[in-house]
Amino acid sequence: MKPSPTTVSTPLPKHTRIAGTGSLLPARRVTNADLAAELAAKGIETSDDWIVERTGIRARHFADAGTTASDLAVGAARHAIEAAGLTPGDIDLIVLATSTPDMVFPSTACIVQQKLGIVGCPAFDLQAVCSGFVYALTVADSLIRTGTARRALVIGAEVFSRILDFNDRGTCVLFGDGAGAVVLEASDTPGLLATDLHADGRHVGILCVPGTVSGGQVLGDPLLKMDGQAVFRLAVGVLEQSARAALAKAGRVDADIDWLIPHQANLRIMQGTAKKLKLPLDKLIVTVDEHGNTSAASIPLALDHAVRSGRVQRGDTLMLEGVGGGFTWGAVLLDY
Ligand code: UT7
Repeated sequence: MKPSPTTVSTPLPKHTRIAGTGSLLPARRVTNADLAAELAAKGIETSDDWIVERTGIRARHFADAGTTASDLAVGAARHAIEAAGLTPGDIDLIVLATSTPDMVFPSTACIVQQKLGIVGCPAFDLQAVCSGFVYALTVADSLIRTGTARRALVIGAEVFSRILDFNDRGTCVLFGDGAGAVVLEASDTPGLLATDLHADGRHVGILCVPGTVSGGQVLGDPLLKMDGQAVFRLAVGVLEQSARAALAKAGRVDADIDWLIPHQANLRIMQGTAKKLKLPLDKLIVTVDEHGNTSAASIPLALDHAVRSGRVQRGDTLMLEGVGGGFTWGAVLLDY
């Protein structure tokens, strides 16, 4: 009689950690003065003073006409994979957050997969606008801890300049293009400590691009619309709540946070959140001054800049927070 085969099961990983970070900005840097001059030529008034005082933004990067979200994503991904000491072939999951995909379909994640020369692993886009990266990180964490993958590429990539209305001074001065990425891997020791995600579709209309394609035509308006004050009011409240929820889930307190890395939309919102969490402002990572609001790309861009500048060190506790259209919001608390 044959012995029955022994099943050797691999235990599921208990934890995930960030193995490497990367980012890419398009080469063209546009200052507030550059943008003010462009708008003035159309009779629209704005100024460096107004933009800096209300938002903290001094410049943003805009992609040239031939550059897509996947181009930026691939650059950021390569930097993250290299920083993790890996090669593209080691990646077994791609989750890409974007609101400005290359095509209606297939997903930008599949296009990135093809450009990186990876074959066979799951790859998909995730749409949660400016909260996209914290959503994507949470989904990748879950897929690793349930055994679907071991090394995930988590990317936020945007070419928001494509959906801006350059006749609306209330929005076109706020946004920029770019991409950021991390490699998230299975780990024996904790990295991600707690996540907290939310959405409230009652606020769909306060930040949206209310257009679509149908029968070969664009239906509705394919440019960004925002009720800035409504978004501002909601953002300030939910960012504090979500950070506190993530801390509570992990059994940590405000003072455990070494670095607050919020979605980079407006310096006043970011500083308000830091104050509510009783964090000194020098624990706040700020890149909105140079990047503008890059939506799903803003958090991984800020994280990568903080890592590469040496501010964020291995072992530091980071609070990442996103908020944006949907209305969506969320937080990820992690030991880097
Ligand atoms: O990424 C998703 C999350 N997004 C956000 O978090 C954005 C949240 N909202 C904001 O950051 C702010 O609401 C804005 C920066 C968008 C606007 O700041 P605000 O202090 O709320 O200004 P406002 O919309 O109340 O406008 C004040 C004034 C208005 O003029 P009047 O009506 O007072 O005469 C605007 O027309 O500023 C005017 N204005 C401008 N002036 C010069 C609006 N945009 C401009 C501009 N340049 N670019």
